[in-house]
Amino acid sequence: MIPLKNDTFLRAALRQPTEYTPIWIMRQAGRYLPEYNATRKRAGSFLGLAKNPEYACEVTLQPLERFDLDASIIFSDILTVPDAMGLGLYFAEGEGPKFERPLQTEAAIKALPDADMNDLKYVFDALTLTRKGINGKVPLIGFSGSPYTLACYMIEGGGSDDFRRVKTLMYREPALLHHILEKNTQAVIAYLNAQIDAGAQAVMVFDTWGGSLSASAYEEFSLAYVTRIFAGLKRENEGRVVPRIFFTKGGGLWLERMAGCGADALGTDWTIDIGEAKRRVGHRVALQGNLDPSVLFGKPERVEAEAGKVLTSFAHDGQRDGHIFNLGHGISQFTDPANVQALVDVVHRSTRR
Ligand code: CP3
Repeated sequence: MIPLKNDTFLRAALRQPTEYTPIWIMRQAGRYLPEYNATRKRAGSFLGLAKNPEYACEVTLQPLERFDLDASIIFSDILTVPDAMGLGLYFAEGEGPKFERPLQTEAAIKALPDADMNDLKYVFDALTLTRKGINGKVPLIGFSGSPYTLACYMIEGGGSDDFRRVKTLMYREPALLHHILEKNTQAVIAYLNAQIDAGAQAVMVFDTWGGSLSASAYEEFSLAYVTRIFAGLKRENEGRVVPRIFFTKGGGLWLERMAGCGADALGTDWTIDIGEAKRRVGHRVALQGNLDPSVLFGKPERVEAEAGKVLTSFAHDGQRDGHIFNLGHGISQFTDPANVQALVDVVHRSTRR
């Protein structure tokens, strides 16, 4: 086993003391990096990249070469799981993800097979290969979509503005939606445990669309299942705790309830003041976030000033521990990498204790 040189991120996720505030960036391997676009071109497509462990490893490592980040996240996608249930994932150029066989009839929902973990071997192989490639520099994060967010794509057949189909099912045939969520929950537990076995040192669950729900629907259709996922995950591997992060975009109103789901850290988007979030969750969980990704469209001085506001707000009680700096959502493809450099530097420089 290769020793881990920088475990700052893992300690922060568990609210243990750190020498400075760690930072990583959601979608840090992506189209804002010219080297990513070059590898993607060689791979032929996004899925060609994600499904090939050598390419996935290569692009996972790219942001670490450029920036002094404190964690890496395996290059993949949340939609690999419904793909392994036979829904046929594809990317229509310029249109985002789509499924060839979305779940739009009762018969299709009832016939939904379990996700075949053998079909996800490319993800586990990519993790094992990437762990070797990182060579102990920083920890490697594995991830999954939440059962509800996966169900949104599986039922809508792609992205949606109003989630009309999934919400129609919710309010007409809730048992059918619960059936899908149950399948997704079992799949995500198996998927994340296999990622841990393959080398993931922390795991994150992305609930991108949970924030489109009412408070009560969020509890019933998203949070309840995420709570079961965390209860079903391995707690330790290689003699260390495997921290869990849970992110609901738009979940700022429900942080107290999210803090009881079994996650060690909660991701927050930029709509909530992170100091207020900390006051509300107290010492129950660490927090990850929460700079508006659009701040990176500003000049470097503005990026530094806005990052400073997040850091100052978090440290309102004189305590910086328990904060993982990140954006409030994925980095935009139109970001200038020089601003990412400025951001990483200012977070490290201004928080060193
Ligand atoms: O953070 C990382 O560097 C890891 C990589 C990662 C990707 N997708 C790569 C990706 C992660 C963690 C995801 C998760 C993901 N995928 C989520 C949850 C997080 C979030 O952003 O809300 C969701 C909802 C998806 C589904 C998905 N995949 C969408 C909506 C898209 C299209 C996005 C777009 O801007 O076109 C994807 C494709 C995708 N996944 C890209 C990347 C880098 C861009 C595709 C490309 O290179 O063509």
